[in-house]
Amino acid sequence: MRLDAFLAKAAQMSRADAKQALRRGRVTVDGRAARDGALHVDENAAVALDGAPLTAKRFVYIMLDKPEGVVSASRDARDTTAADLVRDAYPRRELFPAGRLDKTSTGFVLLTDDGAFAHDILAPRRHVAKTYEVTVDAPVTRAMIDGFAAGVTLADGTRLAPAALRAEEGAFSCEVVLTQGVYHQIKRMFGVFGAGVCALRRTAIGGVRLDASLGPGGFRELTEDEMASLRNAPVQLFQKINTIVP
Ligand code: URA
Repeated sequence: MRLDAFLAKAAQMSRADAKQALRRGRVTVDGRAARDGALHVDENAAVALDGAPLTAKRFVYIMLDKPEGVVSASRDARDTTAADLVRDAYPRRELFPAGRLDKTSTGFVLLTDDGAFAHDILAPRRHVAKTYEVTVDAPVTRAMIDGFAAGVTLADGTRLAPAALRAEEGAFSCEVVLTQGVYHQIKRMFGVFGAGVCALRRTAIGGVRLDASLGPGGFRELTEDEMASLRNAPVQLFQKINTIVP
């Protein structure tokens, strides 16, 4: 694609504005100033406007390692949001989190501007599994493991789908796999057994694991393979997850 067409698509600029930006040296391709709108660039070329990376892709899909204290929202009057953390890198995108993670929780938040995709992976019928590392303030018991597998009934009577709790009995840290997203679900599930959650970190969505090299506040775009794995994730029946519980 021509560079001026790339700018028009990625920065929603008119051809005239793109031409002017090029003339003023505001555009770089792979780190070098580019002034010729006729230059051919690849869809994935590293094009930047005023130093901020641009992408001609229709939608973006970002893996963020959400730090504690950040709310998983687009904008918030009081708190820093997950979208705030990537705004400088994507100043022209209206990104929102596909699914919520508590302010006190950390880990994998998927940010996108593709509403149809977000709707699809969050749809209850898809049962896309979410994996969490959890630290609790009481030892994991056989009753908890069996109760999670059978489906916990919350204090308000809500009957939850079966969930996997992977831990040695007596351990204070465990892995939990959910296929639904109810408000404060894991905290409320442990609450039924009289245990409190000290720390909760989402480590995977479907088959896509959080990139351990990102660190708190780090982010990157999902790869093609990761996107394919999320898009093609079969509707998972819980029995499938439960077979891998020790
Ligand atoms: N369950 C919770 O209680 N909190 C989260 O952030 C995610 C799952």
